[in-house]
Amino acid sequence: MNQTADNAEKHNEAHEGPIKTPKQLVVTIILAFIVPIIIILLLINLVVSGSFQGAGSQALTPEAIASRIKPVAGFALVDANAPKVFKTGQQVYESTCTACHAAGVAGAPKTGDTAAWAPLIDSGMQALMKVALEGKGAMPPKGGNPTLSDFEIERAVVYMANQAGGSFPEPAEPAAEGDAAADNAP
Ligand code: HEC
Repeated sequence: MNQTADNAEKHNEAHEGPIKTPKQLVVTIILAFIVPIIIILLLINLVVSGSFQGAGSQALTPEAIASRIKPVAGFALVDANAPKVFKTGQQVYESTCTACHAAGVAGAPKTGDTAAWAPLIDSGMQALMKVALEGKGAMPPKGGNPTLSDFEIERAVVYMANQAGGSFPEPAEPAAEGDAAADNAP
């Protein structure tokens, strides 16, 4: 028994580390706690402060990454249920109808030409719309722009007629559902 204890002590001595006194042990334990905490605090400070900016560090900002990985061909998600935004009569006129109607090309009644428009205005909105939608002579259906809705054409006709002395009221916007169905009909 005594022999065993002796052996154990010898064994311990053989493996003795640099810590020899209780005081050293206490200091070691304290340092073992404090040093990592200081390192962690420094790291946190480094990360949080954000004041350091190495060359190319801008390359990892969310904006820079987003712009790098965005698809080559941009696309916009179209909400099919969103209410359609109609062009105003003036916008339709200026984008499509002005080509002929501003100068009176091919016998088109000139915009603002009261004399030319008076009989047309007298014929009524329905007659004007029929020509505007279906065409007549050199007047192409929908002014040659099939993407325009009937409502937009009506607005353009009202705009043009009113430029030449007409006093048609602004047409009412069609209900979203019905119009979408009508527009998508083949
Ligand atoms: C390619 C030339 C051209 C374009 C583009 C054009 N028009 Fe015309 N438009 C004409 C001509 C030509 C006439 C005369 C037709 C006739 O009386 O024979 C006419 C006549 C009209 C009339 C009179 C209809 C009637 O009762 O005689 C209306 C209304 C009209 N256009 C509306 C429009 C609107 C709205 C647009 C644009 C969305 C448009 N036009 C674009 C050539 C054009």
